[in-house]
Amino acid sequence: MAIPSTVILGTGSYTPKRVLTNDELSKQVETSDEWIRTRSGIRERRIAGPGESTSDMAVFAAQAALADAGLTAADIDLLVVATVTPDLPLPATACIIQHKLGVPSHAACFDLNAACSGFIYGLDTACAMLSSGRYRKALVIGAEKLSSIVDWKERTTCVLFGDGAGAVVVGCSEEPNVGLLGTKLGAYGDSVELLWIPKGGSNSPATAESIAAGDHFMKMKGKEVFKLAVRAMDEAARDILEQHSIHPDQIGLVIPHQANLRIIEAISKYLNLPMDRFFVNVDRYGNTSAASVPLALDEARKAGRIKKGDYTLLVAFGAGLTYGSALIRW
Ligand code: UT7
Repeated sequence: MAIPSTVILGTGSYTPKRVLTNDELSKQVETSDEWIRTRSGIRERRIAGPGESTSDMAVFAAQAALADAGLTAADIDLLVVATVTPDLPLPATACIIQHKLGVPSHAACFDLNAACSGFIYGLDTACAMLSSGRYRKALVIGAEKLSSIVDWKERTTCVLFGDGAGAVVVGCSEEPNVGLLGTKLGAYGDSVELLWIPKGGSNSPATAESIAAGDHFMKMKGKEVFKLAVRAMDEAARDILEQHSIHPDQIGLVIPHQANLRIIEAISKYLNLPMDRFFVNVDRYGNTSAASVPLALDEARKAGRIKKGDYTLLVAFGAGLTYGSALIRW
């Protein structure tokens, strides 16, 4: 029996109402709107409200994706949540979202941590599980409350990140050569310390000293990460296109991870594909890690930038250091 195609049936996203501008940040740390804009392309980011959790944002995004797909939570039997900012260390945020959304108890629910590449990892995982024939409809969510792990006194990181969520509903189709055509996933585990939270895990549980030192906040060696991000995203993009004998020019739209406009511009140059084929919203949301790709995908679809028959390329890079690309035909 032929393996069915796995297709995106609906998309949704959510961002918190609170807008934090560069000018506001420049009153908190030694920075400026000019520095942030020219180095990263970010103008503003969204910050979750008091009491607003990763799961709350995920639920709004998932409800929008279900409505877009014409389905309800009762139809879902697989729930994959990509996040580095779970509501709690235990249990999985997927189970909290399951309860809030009303996804039935026969559904498999789990979290996945591949940082900013997490949504592409999650999409690949869900599609493989659907292809097995043992699941029918999946929700794949990328959701982050990065404001909870950012050191708001550290200018090298606090200006870059924001909160939000994006979601897709995935199902099977008999139509050949549509949906997720393939992925390329990988990781450089030798570079863990370039982007990490050094303390607070099982290896070194939080102590009064580690908290006082701010070691439970995200740390990043930006320049090194930048170089690796460009190289890995370019290679992951080329790899998946070559696997499917697709020329970059055949791609209708690239949805890159939104970490830095200069990274996106570099990939545009290396792939020799103009910037108008890249969806960009980093200016409005900053880097929302696992939420970045599904949030951009939803905005691109709703803006009419993706049509039936188009090829879309997703590509991301993040802590781990992980990378991933995915080729979709609509
Ligand atoms: O999502 C996972 C993937 N993450 C990424 O891809 C992020 C990758 N990295 C980047 O996007 C960029 O490296 C940054 C935006 C983080 C930094 O840009 P950069 O051009 O690499 O700047 P830099 O780190 O080399 O810093 C240049 C200067 C430094 O001062 P000196 O040493 O030249 O005197 C920094 O101390 O800018 C200073 N600086 C700042 N100045 C004003 C660093 N942060 C700030 C700031 N405001 N917020």
